Amino acid sequence: MSKPIILTGDRPTGKLHIGHYVGSLRNRVLLQDKGEYELFVFLADQQALTDHAKDPKTIVESIGNVALDYLAVGLDPEKTTIFIQSQIPELSELSMYYMNLVSLARLERNPTVKSEIAQKAFGESIPTGFLVYPIAQAADITAFKANYVPVGNDQKPMIEQTREIVRSFNHTYDCDVLVEPQGLYPQNEAAGRLPGLDGNAKMSKSLNNGIYLSDDMDTLQKKVMSMYTDPDHIKIEDPGKIDGNMVFHYLDVFGRPEDMREITIMKEHYQQGGLGDVKTKRYLLEILERELGPIRERRVEFSKDMGEVYTMLQKGSDRARQVASQTLFEVKSAMGINYFQ
Ligand code: TRP
Repeated sequence: MSKPIILTGDRPTGKLHIGHYVGSLRNRVLLQDKGEYELFVFLADQQALTDHAKDPKTIVESIGNVALDYLAVGLDPEKTTIFIQSQIPELSELSMYYMNLVSLARLERNPTVKSEIAQKAFGESIPTGFLVYPIAQAADITAFKANYVPVGNDQKPMIEQTREIVRSFNHTYDCDVLVEPQGLYPQNEAAGRLPGLDGNAKMSKSLNNGIYLSDDMDTLQKKVMSMYTDPDHIKIEDPGKIDGNMVFHYLDVFGRPEDMREITIMKEHYQQGGLGDVKTKRYLLEILERELGPIRERRVEFSKDMGEVYTMLQKGSDRARQVASQTLFEVKSAMGINYFQ
């Protein structure tokens, strides 16, 4: 029996932060180490280019950085196929055939694409590649016959659209070549989206409110010391608020079961008054360092040989290409367009 297939990817638009870590990376490593699944993880550089066409440098530089982040958190190329989207031309070819099965109106209705278009202020010049990226994403998923796709809630419309394409393809060409994937979404909201250091709902590069897996110890310390707490907690004796206090929010997310007693005691003390922010921040720093220290060390080690990192990516891409070309062959056979075979 072959193992169920899990596939997921990230747009390489910058280094990964601890929001990515608690939201998805940590879980991928767990799934990998269970050994019950076949995993594909990839850098969606083509998708990133759909709204960065004039700024490819950011994407190109992020390939190495995100690959290092992957290795640092424990994704293991011996167990997981790690590859680069643009190196698998079969994905673009699949997209061409899927495009004929999706109406323009359906694309324009995709809620994630809609809100991205509103945010990005493309005006009248929405790149065609951007509008059709959900179709390309369906190609990513189906090329590997993925059964499960772990993604954030914002990706639900992409999975839905992929499922529609699968049904439409299999029905139109009277076959069962494509596999309908299921999304795996974050279990709890807290880990689903980690807020920024400043309390903003989103941790992001543009808001400059994130902690990166590549941050050194000094940077981590400075960032923790600058975290948003309770603006009305001025003197140590003042009673403080837990709600909306990022230090306690992060403690809830990063604390292990054995830390919970200490965290509960701290919360009570803080609410009563008499516990200063510096103390709570020092404690958080300890908890974060316990998790991030080993990741940072591994990242530094891997970064000493970038040649090796790219060789790993190339091997992964070669392997991914074999799988994708087999699916493309089946797709073309179902359509009857393998003229020379
Ligand atoms: N759209 C995803 C994101 O922005 C990245 C992505 C591209 C992806 N192709 C995928 C995720 C296929 C899962 C499966 O995060």
